Amino acid sequence: MAGPPPFRYILDTNQFSRQDLDFFLRQAEKLEEQRREDIFGMLEGKILASLFFESSTRTRLSFETAMLRLGGQVITTVGFQFSSISKGETLYDTMKMVEAYSDIAVIRHPVEGSSRIAAAAVSIPVINAGDGTGQHPTQALLDLYTIFRERGSPDGLRIAFIGDLKFGRTIHSLIHLLQHYNVEMIFISPLDLALPESYKKSLRKQNVSFEETEDMKEMWDCDVAYVTRIQEERFVDKNEFDRLKNSYSINRAFVQASRRNTLIMHPLPRVSELSTDVDDLPNAAYFRQAGYGVTVRMTLLLLCLGNFPEGQS
Ligand code: NCD
Repeated sequence: MAGPPPFRYILDTNQFSRQDLDFFLRQAEKLEEQRREDIFGMLEGKILASLFFESSTRTRLSFETAMLRLGGQVITTVGFQFSSISKGETLYDTMKMVEAYSDIAVIRHPVEGSSRIAAAAVSIPVINAGDGTGQHPTQALLDLYTIFRERGSPDGLRIAFIGDLKFGRTIHSLIHLLQHYNVEMIFISPLDLALPESYKKSLRKQNVSFEETEDMKEMWDCDVAYVTRIQEERFVDKNEFDRLKNSYSINRAFVQASRRNTLIMHPLPRVSELSTDVDDLPNAAYFRQAGYGVTVRMTLLLLCLGNFPEGQS
């Protein structure tokens, strides 16, 4: 059975309503409960085009794993240097080829808005796997699923966002989804990496309660802390990155001082902002979070291709 219209393509977190998110979380949870042999074959005969024109490990591998676990197949291109875009081909022309070769495409691209251009060129479903400093909707859905699996409904939670709030597309995308819940958001960052005004404006418009601070200790009173690295590749001025690169770092002792057993999330990759001595704490959720990526992306592939089995909704 096909999912509702918002799941025929995945381009932007703004396309989802609260009802869509509730539907999505239920589908993902049901899929996670199924035995591996029961899901294998659900996308038999389908081909995923995995188009990654910007660095990725988790997103690409989890999409490809998701397709393989469902019995589908994958064709892939990684980086501009190994695709005809380096010979001057437009994204439009590339997508026309992709449409002839595959049933669904996942695209990561350094230019904001490119997944929308890609989707407009073809009639197969297109999924945005991160476009520059723009959106990363599938990461936001997996982050939401992680909160749901580890702490239940986000309603009533106090959630800290820590780090590069200026350039971090995962934070920007997750904020959009959490606006549909009754959450308190605490934005913790150096002043120079604060959340852009446009996001704050949108939060005010939605009457979402939020605070901004430079004090990392505010994390101790939060149910969830979503930590991010400083996005080096987005800085125009390298000196500015060097000045900020060590401005925050969270270690085991700091996490253990939490008054709320704060769940530690991170989209990964991490650099120096989150110490490895946090990893074996039970509330360190980031590797489980990366694991949920496969379930979430299997759910999205099934919904986009209209292959969710009857009785699942
Ligand atoms: C993130 C991304 O690419 O935006 N990584 C990911 O998809 N898990 C976060 C990051 O690169 O810092």
